[in-house]
Amino acid sequence: MDKERLQHIAIIMDGNGRWAKERGFKRTRGHEAGAETIRDITTYCAEHKTIQSATFYAFSTENWKRPKIEVEFLMKLLDKYLKNELKTYQQYNIRFQAIGNIDAFSKSLQNRIRETERLTKDNSNLTQILALNYGGRAEITMAVNTLIKEGKKEIREEDISQALQTSYTDIDILIRTSGEERISNFLLWQLSYSEFYFTETLWPDFRAKELDDILQKFTQRHRRFGGL
Ligand code: IPE
Ligand code: IPE
Ligand code: MG
Repeated sequence: MDKERLQHIAIIMDGNGRWAKERGFKRTRGHEAGAETIRDITTYCAEHKTIQSATFYAFSTENWKRPKIEVEFLMKLLDKYLKNELKTYQQYNIRFQAIGNIDAFSKSLQNRIRETERLTKDNSNLTQILALNYGGRAEITMAVNTLIKEGKKEIREEDISQALQTSYTDIDILIRTSGEERISNFLLWQLSYSEFYFTETLWPDFRAKELDDILQKFTQRHRRFGGL
């Protein structure tokens, strides 16, 4: 068992809509509550000894299928979140990065994202990565196209790993909230040897305590990576 391997966690934050519905609220209230949870979990990760990166699935390439009003709300919420979080990033020494194709977002939101990346680029306790207009298949396809443009005739696994936006490390743990047990096009390449945890808890109710319990269980799992 190698505890040092716990470097990168990924979370599919799911269940905001159901959380709101259970309370008779509009779905958007669930997204607002979910944004609070990201802060709680991110600061926990920043204070954790071995976690270096935490990647959160915030908006998938498929989420454009949702009603326009919800999509617009999510874009505004993201802008507000980044604006408010800057002080948290600086206080906890957190670097912010985005993955996904943000060209599809408004110019002002793109600027907010790039500016937040720039202002936090020297922070080193944790890298918080938000997956924004992200799709695992799109990311792999983009990586292959990059390699073709570079003139590669034959592609090795390492080439693809390096060409991905998330080239830094593989994912050690994937957590999905809300009881759904699927990947929904998240980090397909990087999840090949991850440990998976599914919890019934809806994302707005997920707390650092539950994450802590999950990480405890992780240290008891035996990751064989195909060996014995
Ligand atoms: C996750 O919660 C947030 C996003 C996908 C943006 P959902 O909005 O998917 O919540 P449910 O699954 O409908 O409850
Ligand atoms: C996955 O959740 C995407 C995000 C959490 C951003 P969805 O709610 O969109 O996934 P499906 O539709 O249940 O697979
Ligand atoms: Mg969902």
